Amino acid sequence: MKGYLISVEGSDGSGKSTQLQNIIAYLEQKNVDLVVTREPGGTALSEAIRGLLLDARYTEMTAKTEMLLYAASRAQHIEQKIIPALEAGKVVVTDRFTDSSIAYQAYGRGLGDMVTDVNEIATGGCKPDLTIFLDLPPEQGILRKKQEQLHIMDRLELEKLAFHEKVYAGYQALLQKEPNRICRIDASQSIETVFVQIRKQLDFLLGF
Ligand code: TYD
Repeated sequence: MKGYLISVEGSDGSGKSTQLQNIIAYLEQKNVDLVVTREPGGTALSEAIRGLLLDARYTEMTAKTEMLLYAASRAQHIEQKIIPALEAGKVVVTDRFTDSSIAYQAYGRGLGDMVTDVNEIATGGCKPDLTIFLDLPPEQGILRKKQEQLHIMDRLELEKLAFHEKVYAGYQALLQKEPNRICRIDASQSIETVFVQIRKQLDFLLGF
């Protein structure tokens, strides 16, 4: 039995958390054998690495260290959690996956192809069957985040607009390269409209 890996990507403020909740509720209602996870994180060790990555105190973290920590967290996550779940025929929904490293580290930090090579090692070639990309230009995303009361900005969110513009360009490049795997959804639409479009993709993939 083969499972499915579905990743959800989007820039900060694209409504990713809300849509993840909608996806989970929908798949549960369909009685799908589901594993919900996230990156960086998903296992105890990967969550510990997440703590290092997002801690706003580590302003000295170099781009390469950052890339390797995301990849290390992913390697553990895949071997310990994702592959066993897929082998058991489950549907795995992950909040971010390797595309985030391409967008943030290869494009945002300017590390380029090195990120693809490192992630090839980390993933052993494990790729999502479907990636939902919630597309929102960074100026709009940052505005939405700022409007959220009580939100404490993490190390990545504290980056300047220029960084987020590069990340956004990274996602656009990925879309061009893999249009069959990555489904772009205009995240400036209403929550309901965005989810109708996501649901169509889920239905198609899972045969509902
Ligand atoms: P998180 O709080 O999960 O942010 P979001 O709600 O935007 O998903 O923090 C994850 C941060 O890490 C986010 O800013 C994107 C970044 N990131 C990378 O830079 N590279 C990666 O490979 C991954 C998985 C995330």
